[in-house]
Amino acid sequence: MDSFSRGIPKAELHVHIEGTLEPELMFEMARRNGLPLRFASAEEVRRAYRFSDLQSFLDIYYEGARVLRTQTDFRDLARAYFQRAVSDGVRHAEIFFDPQTHTARGVAFADVVRGLREAQEEAEREFQITSKLILCFLRHLSEEDAIATLEEALSWRDSIAGVGLDSSEAGNPPSKFERVFARARAEGLLPVAHAGEEGPPEYIREALDRLEVLRIDHGVRCEEDETLVSVLARARTPLTVCPLSNVKLGVFPSLARHNLKRLLGRGLCVTVNSDDPAYFGGYVADNYAAAEEALGLTRQEVVELAKNSFEASFLRDDEKKRYIAEIEAFAAGAP
Ligand code: HPA
Ligand code: ZN
Repeated sequence: MDSFSRGIPKAELHVHIEGTLEPELMFEMARRNGLPLRFASAEEVRRAYRFSDLQSFLDIYYEGARVLRTQTDFRDLARAYFQRAVSDGVRHAEIFFDPQTHTARGVAFADVVRGLREAQEEAEREFQITSKLILCFLRHLSEEDAIATLEEALSWRDSIAGVGLDSSEAGNPPSKFERVFARARAEGLLPVAHAGEEGPPEYIREALDRLEVLRIDHGVRCEEDETLVSVLARARTPLTVCPLSNVKLGVFPSLARHNLKRLLGRGLCVTVNSDDPAYFGGYVADNYAAAEEALGLTRQEVVELAKNSFEASFLRDDEKKRYIAEIEAFAAGAP
């Protein structure tokens, strides 16, 4: 792989911690928690990862997440992610977690957050990787369920930076979650939402206008609405794009047909991320390298993507400036 795209300092802004569960760790957790798996081996799990669309992925993703039961499981899951992230040049990560996937199975919210916090603190000490947590509401469930989840999360207010919206997009528009997002914003939680992955550009507009999100997760279908593209460019509203995910779920027929280079060229704040790396065949540096190769990204474009990742982050301005200076130093010193 290109050592430039691997080494360049970057922030990862779109990664679901449950989507970093590698099959080997899934087996280990199933074993220690005494839970059955319908697969005989890690290889067999990987062979089952052939998706046709978002829902076919989500079905197996929720199935895999069932092995996560204890605080230790959540710590080990996030610890494994940070170990990968450090070798991918990640300096800062804003990580999604899906509490409803776990609390619905009787796992305590406290165990999820405590386990993740433990790994975050360890990653900061050992790797100098900073991170924030973003609580995602599952959009296939009701807004009432999301409100109850938010109320529970408020006991952990200091551990959570923002709220997001994930799961089955089509038929579950952002407007369904207007009240819970208003409540989250009133608490100072920073709002983001998945929109325009499988859903139409109208969902991106709804996320902006009705949920007042600060970033759009995916957002690649914005291109079907010229005016929307201009709006996003003018406001520099970040898109957290996940190239390998988009190809695996059939949003684009191939990486060579992905629109991220075009959107970047039109002045949008495009960032590159991994989404669910254990399921989609690559972590964040693999996404940079694969996009670079398939789309013929120049070094300047790779630098721009990395800078955008900090610009789009929820870090303080002085922290952003420091990382952007680090990128410039890295690019100037690269062979
Ligand atoms: N889209 C929607 N829901 C998700 C995703 C995604 O990319 N990953 C995990 N849950
Ligand atoms: Zn996602």
